[in-house]
Amino acid sequence: MKSAEIRKRFLEFYKKRKHVVIPPVSLIPEKDSTLLFVNSGMFPLVPYLMGEKHPEGKRLANSQKCFRSDDIEEVGDKRHTTFFEMLGNWSLGDYFKKEQLRWVAELFFDELGLDPERIYVSVYRGNKEIGIERDTESVEIWKDIFQERGLEAKDVDFAEKKGMQEGRIFYYEDKENWWSRAGAPEDMPVGEPGGPDSELFYDLGKSLGYHEESPWKDQPCHINCDCGRFIEIGNSVFIEFVKREKGFEKLLQQNVDFGGGLERIAMIAQEKKSVFETDLFLPIIKKIENLSGAKYQENTKSFEIIADHIKASVFIIGDERGISPSNKQQGYFVRRLIRRAIRHGKQLGVKSDSWLQDVAREVVEIYKDVYPEVKKNSDFVFKEMEKEESVFQKTLERGIKEFEKLKGEKIIDGKKAAFLYQTYGFPVELIEELARERGQNVDVKEFYREMEKHKNLSRELSAGVFKSGLADGEEKTVKYHTTTHLLLSALRKVFGDSVVQKGSNITSERLRFDFSHKEKLTEEEIKKVEDLVNEMIEKDLFVKKEEMGLQDALDSGVVASFGEKYPSRVLVYSIVDDNGKEFSREICGGPHVEKTSVLGKFSIKKEEASSAGVRRIKAILE
Ligand code: ALA
Repeated sequence: MKSAEIRKRFLEFYKKRKHVVIPPVSLIPEKDSTLLFVNSGMFPLVPYLMGEKHPEGKRLANSQKCFRSDDIEEVGDKRHTTFFEMLGNWSLGDYFKKEQLRWVAELFFDELGLDPERIYVSVYRGNKEIGIERDTESVEIWKDIFQERGLEAKDVDFAEKKGMQEGRIFYYEDKENWWSRAGAPEDMPVGEPGGPDSELFYDLGKSLGYHEESPWKDQPCHINCDCGRFIEIGNSVFIEFVKREKGFEKLLQQNVDFGGGLERIAMIAQEKKSVFETDLFLPIIKKIENLSGAKYQENTKSFEIIADHIKASVFIIGDERGISPSNKQQGYFVRRLIRRAIRHGKQLGVKSDSWLQDVAREVVEIYKDVYPEVKKNSDFVFKEMEKEESVFQKTLERGIKEFEKLKGEKIIDGKKAAFLYQTYGFPVELIEELARERGQNVDVKEFYREMEKHKNLSRELSAGVFKSGLADGEEKTVKYHTTTHLLLSALRKVFGDSVVQKGSNITSERLRFDFSHKEKLTEEEIKKVEDLVNEMIEKDLFVKKEEMGLQDALDSGVVASFGEKYPSRVLVYSIVDDNGKEFSREICGGPHVEKTSVLGKFSIKKEEASSAGVRRIKAILE
């Protein structure tokens, strides 16, 4: 079954069950500054899961292009990709567990023809500490579903870690069976919705020796084991909770958020051992074989990295809000993807200095009917790729030579890494990868310190990692940047800690700040916020900058910016008075003023709705 057929059948299946198929959104989020890329189908639906009315009703479905930067290191294991398509269906306070799980079973067993015998499921085991119960309801539903297909489904609590125990339904903890955009319950910021989930796994077969030949062979295998025998192909999340200051509360409505990766479903339906052998990848793989003379089966990792990274780049550059390679924000990811693909191409023996677009053309061919933007923008994509290639190809070889000189060293010091970055354009992650392949480490901390010395570069780099929303580094914009921190802190004082930043845009003329809040602000509230900011300015607070490990930063109570992938070392800016009392504390790339008294008088010029549940403030410094 071709992937196009699977996509079509999925959407038809839910249309028949009264769902409206909604179009996919751009990969680049519009107003949410907490995530650089759309990473799930539910991403644009959060306000509606929280209770807002969706114009298309309570039952929705679609196929959404997604990019998960976190998975970049996982590519190479035959099943992970950074770019993928998520088939999704949603109930916005309409149907719940029973309908959802039955439909999932009908979809996979009856519509797509998977053998129920090879399907295993997981459910949430509950967590007393957060007051959420074990999901026995889903277990009962699953038991009936399997029974109707002639299978006795035993439930097993995986907390006992005894392996399969002839089970078919497994209870797991928060880490595996709780879903929110921010992950497990303790990682969620106040105001974020989430809930228990139930995942579907396909058994690729015991006889293939996945487990026995894996590093996990001494522990019992189970459906979430990393050995590769089981592959997750779908997840039904029961979004009925929201995190509050005091703990979890039920939302006003019970929602379903289902997502299944099309590539993986195609892999199973097409009886392949790798998503890269499905029709969503095969022409790309073949093209790389032609260009390099190498064979996929003998070089799976490099092939998968090239295929995935070029595909992801086509979608990011060719998006409705297309992003070019750069040192900033999303552009930095495109740069990393492209340069890494080029490096692996060289390793496979690709001779051409301009080959990315040959591969990119295959990507466009595969997707042109489903995502017409990649066809429409293909000339732009090819041109951007060629530009990036011509810059990097020139220095790659010399850079690698330079790198090889560091052969004897266990740890590559930060100065040398910074040199490779500045002289040869090696992204630090690429240097780390080269080092790992040769059993070396990189002193990344020192690398960042070194970069810090070169102010301008470091600013670009940190803006690449943190989304500060700064247009440039001019004095006035720096002032607005610090003021933005004060504003968030004032808003949280007035409306509580559930207020989170939803977007920020700064020019030398004004600041613009989006934050989560339902109602229009009254004049009194606006005045109160203004006064609070001006009080802080008058107190002449200090801006303190510290570099620390991410976990230490989170433990120290920074305002959480969920969903964003931070590096392991981060900069934390806090705004404090002479006695050390703290008014604001955020992870941020800077730059900032040193003392708040230079800011002048803060004045809110406009307050308006930005999108559902998000307000926007425009303010100036007089
Ligand atoms: N939003 C859920 C996920 O991404 C379905 O797994």
